[in-house]
Amino acid sequence: MFYSAIRKMLFQMDGESAHDFTIKALKNTGATPLNIAYKQRVPQKPVQVMGIHFPNPCGLAAGLDKNGECIRAFDAMGFGFVEVGTVTPRPQPGNDKPRLFRLPEADAIINRMGFNNKGVDYLVDQVRKAKFTGVLGINIGKNKDTPEENAKDDYIHCMQKVYNIASYITVNISSPNTPGLRALQYGDALNTLLAALKEEQTNLAKKYDKYVPIAVKIAPDLTAEEVESIAQCLIDNDIDGVIATNTTLSREGVEQLEHGNEMGGLSGQPVKDKSTEVIRLLANALNDKLPIIGVGGIASGQDAKEKIAAGAKLVQVYTGFIYQGPELIKDIVKSL
Ligand SMILES: Cc1cc2nc3c(=O)[nH]c(=O)nc-3n(C[C@H](O)[C@H](O)[C@H](O)COP(=O)(O)O)c2cc1C
Repeated sequence: MFYSAIRKMLFQMDGESAHDFTIKALKNTGATPLNIAYKQRVPQKPVQVMGIHFPNPCGLAAGLDKNGECIRAFDAMGFGFVEVGTVTPRPQPGNDKPRLFRLPEADAIINRMGFNNKGVDYLVDQVRKAKFTGVLGINIGKNKDTPEENAKDDYIHCMQKVYNIASYITVNISSPNTPGLRALQYGDALNTLLAALKEEQTNLAKKYDKYVPIAVKIAPDLTAEEVESIAQCLIDNDIDGVIATNTTLSREGVEQLEHGNEMGGLSGQPVKDKSTEVIRLLANALNDKLPIIGVGGIASGQDAKEKIAAGAKLVQVYTGFIYQGPELIKDIVKSL
């Protein structure tokens, strides 16, 4: 693997240009012999979670392949599962650029992408074309211009579109870059949303004769009481899994760095302990009633082990993967 050379070239571009370049290259090579450039053998470490068989517990976190264009490439790298999205019902451009910033001194990223994506119909088409037989998570959200009181309709719309092609569906209510989205994590708003999604899942399970689990992705910026209240709501609504966590609004430890005060969500090393703490609180409150997928600042096998020790059954990576490349997947799987 020669990621260090490739990284040097990518890091000479601004963050989003490097991202676009990489996605294009992976999209064009993922299902061809050229994938030899990044294909690797990762040991089998099978786990059964949410009723799904995972070949290994290390997945790609949402947001890197928002449109499901590179599934085969990420599979070739050895990820045990790939989560695509966040996707919204209609295509939308996201926030103005620049909106993606590397903070290399902190092994971190700040982003305020704002769910830029080509819409759910495009993603469904990409997934069908990929003919992927591994574990695929599809992460769904709401369009920016959908009023908050109608957010539920956007999630239901996406759920109906992706149900039959997803291994599991992630309900993203934790991005800091869509106004009002995080408000769905609390009280009645959460209960109403989850009850509606559960009902739709029951209908779709009958229609397709197939049960597709729902996972809810939450933020790291929650008090212990808020985490406990979310956990109870997940149990009450019979939700299948929880992904902890998304990016943080905190700037602790990065305020002094270049780009450290850009608006958006902070990911990577600075979110690691916050995310692990949320996992620990969730694990206590959930009592094994539903599984936790741990994500946030994992940059080594040791970091992944910490997430598992805190109560996660699976892990995902994003920022650590940008800094270290595919080798990180192998390190993580070997260590678990
Ligand atoms: C540039 C960027 C875009 C992201 N987009 C999404 C997204 O669309 N949906 C989502 O659920 N999470 C998104 N995330 C959050 C990641 O999936 C992950 O939860 C978070 O970054 C913490 O993990 P990490 O420290 O390994 O990056 C994004 C993260 C980054 C850095």
